[in-house]
Amino acid sequence: MITQNMQDAINDQINKELYSSYLYLSMAAYFEDNNLPGFAHWMRVQESEEREHAMKLYDFLLERGGRVILKTIDAPKTEWKSTLEVAEEVAAHEAKVTTSIYSLYETALKEKDYPAQVMLQWFITEQVEEEKNAAEIVSTLKLIEAHGTAILMLDKQLGKRGAD
Ligand code: FEO
Repeated sequence: MITQNMQDAINDQINKELYSSYLYLSMAAYFEDNNLPGFAHWMRVQESEEREHAMKLYDFLLERGGRVILKTIDAPKTEWKSTLEVAEEVAAHEAKVTTSIYSLYETALKEKDYPAQVMLQWFITEQVEEEKNAAEIVSTLKLIEAHGTAILMLDKQLGKRGAD
């Protein structure tokens, strides 16, 4: 049976994952409004991943005989100054989620909850990917801002070049 502390911490994380989903859905709506359907698609994909993260924790709690307690989800922001600002916020948000997953893992260590430790290792690996993807988009947008799109075309061309 899962301990109360572990259960509370997982319920908090479910709320954070659902907030992430809500935030990304709001960002998708912002992009749709700014005629950027590709960026909106990126956010929709992120949004559904966040719901999957919440459900992974939800199902884990049920499998362990715990009780899922859903809480209020804060309203997300709705306006941003630029595409870069959104991407930077995604990156910062993912870094926050990583910290939160680490603290959940520390609770699992303290509670000697071995199944939770195994389950959370998946999240730790996932966060490496999430942070990397967001950082790449921020870097590309900054490159475009500084040098225009021609540099990306040249980079693509050089990437295809074989050895002479
Ligand atoms: Fe659920 Fe993007 O971390």
